[in-house]
Amino acid sequence: MTIPTHRFEALVVGGGGAGLYAALTLSREGIPTAVLSKLYPTRSHTGAAQGGIGAALGNTEEDHPEWHMYDTVKGSDYLADQDAVEILCREAIETVYELEHLGLPFNRTPEGKIDQRRFGGHTREQGKAPVRRACYAADRTGHMILQTLYQQCIRRQVRFFDEFHVLDLVLEEGSGGRRCAGVVAMDLASGELHLFHAQAVLFATGGSGRMFQVTSNAHALTGDGMAVAFRRGIPLEDMEFFQFHPTGIYKMGILLSEACRGEGGVLRNALQERFMERVAPTIKDLAPRDMVSRAIYQEIRQGRGIGGKDYVHLDLTHLGQETLEKKLPDIADFVRTYMGLDPARDLIPVQPTAHYSMGGIPTNVDGEVMQDEKDTPLPGFYAAGECACVSVHGANRLGTNSLVDILVFGRRSGMTMSRYIRHSGWPSLPSQGLDWAQALLERLRNAQGKEKAATLRRELQQEMMESCGVFRREQSLSLLLKKLEVWEGRFLEIGLQDRSRRFNTELLEAIELQNLLVLARVTVASALARTESRGAHAREDYPKRDDENWLKHTLAAGENGKVVLKYKLVVITKFQPQERKY
Ligand code: FUM
Repeated sequence: MTIPTHRFEALVVGGGGAGLYAALTLSREGIPTAVLSKLYPTRSHTGAAQGGIGAALGNTEEDHPEWHMYDTVKGSDYLADQDAVEILCREAIETVYELEHLGLPFNRTPEGKIDQRRFGGHTREQGKAPVRRACYAADRTGHMILQTLYQQCIRRQVRFFDEFHVLDLVLEEGSGGRRCAGVVAMDLASGELHLFHAQAVLFATGGSGRMFQVTSNAHALTGDGMAVAFRRGIPLEDMEFFQFHPTGIYKMGILLSEACRGEGGVLRNALQERFMERVAPTIKDLAPRDMVSRAIYQEIRQGRGIGGKDYVHLDLTHLGQETLEKKLPDIADFVRTYMGLDPARDLIPVQPTAHYSMGGIPTNVDGEVMQDEKDTPLPGFYAAGECACVSVHGANRLGTNSLVDILVFGRRSGMTMSRYIRHSGWPSLPSQGLDWAQALLERLRNAQGKEKAATLRRELQQEMMESCGVFRREQSLSLLLKKLEVWEGRFLEIGLQDRSRRFNTELLEAIELQNLLVLARVTVASALARTESRGAHAREDYPKRDDENWLKHTLAAGENGKVVLKYKLVVITKFQPQERKY
């Protein structure tokens, strides 16, 4: 059977903000570029960054990129690489202005400048008070970014392959080492394999929130790019740090933007207390997400959850109808639609929801993927956005910095790729490039075992939430690691009922589950080894941060079916680690 083969100088895998900005940059440089996306691009998870993009424009009050840098480093619990954070905060400003010029409809101040609002962990004068730094388009900032960039890509003749699922990376093995030569993907509409031959490949495939039971992530967020890279020998960095956003709709996990609190909303326990006043006296409900999520769980554990249950209330009732409709229209709609409540009158049940992976495929500030702890790049392979780890978020990301990250490093990756493409020539396609993907599909399509992907996935998600969620302990992590081995064994006993080719979602779910299992194992192994609490990694048995032993990045690699952990140093340039108080 002939496999359809495509040839593009640049191939971007993932149609979210990072992928689209890289594709736009490449096409502006005159490089023929294709974007291969599992979803229709404007449905990507970038849309879930609702409330704003952080940039120290200083439009409504004094602000500076250095203050943004300080907040980001402190928010990261000092694990972020400070050279990368400096670039992030400096380039945030030109990025926002470029988005404005590309047509993004930002909210405006009365004088017509881009309006800015408050967000968690963003402060003035090194932590003295909250600052308005988030530039926003109502509560649809991520969506507007997707629409704006997608339109620009179409205008520039970027070629889109929508609903293509990446299965493997194709590597040329030469005498000088490995080089990326393309990818293998499955066309979901036909079930056919396609081979994409490229000089340079960018992974911008998003995160893996579907590892957890309660998540803001769409069903498609199964960490495919990270799992593919890991299987091809790329270590994954800092995977133990997974962010829980404090305000997901109870049980559903659907995000209610931090902008709700940026606009003045507050959290209340069963006694109606504004408990964040106790936890973070300076910035209260606008403390960073790791702290607020832990505080919610503490209220629940101490019996102050609403009605003795595992949720608290988000109170927006004092904001007024006009603010709700003008600044938080989607949130108001979600609350009405999914809960049957009126945010202007009713308190909203919320709980922490798995939102964002701080870890991922290790890259340098130019998007080049690093294949070991000595930072050796893998020529022709790049990563940006949530699937990558630059690392600008360290142990805990500040709200609004995901959008800055995807755009700043998406664009930088596009520029690096275009330089590489001009000088690199074409890699050859190895004859065995398709073997792994063909064997996987062959096996799954004929799988007749008794296990069901949906059952395994449900068990995985429940246990990850329970034992590797906001709080962790050695005993439960060790047990979970053993269960993961069992689930991986059970995965081999899987059976598929649907034998059709077109939009075979049962097959897709099995492939996604395989990826989730790999990533869960890496996450749990990394979390078990890190015997300290830092940012989003809260070990109840090791409640303190331990800079002496753990001020370092984890690199988890696969060797002979085992996860092997190595470490590399954190880059510290301006801000020495300090106790994190708000
Ligand atoms: O709360 C939010 O609007 C999410 C933003 C983000 O994750 O950066």
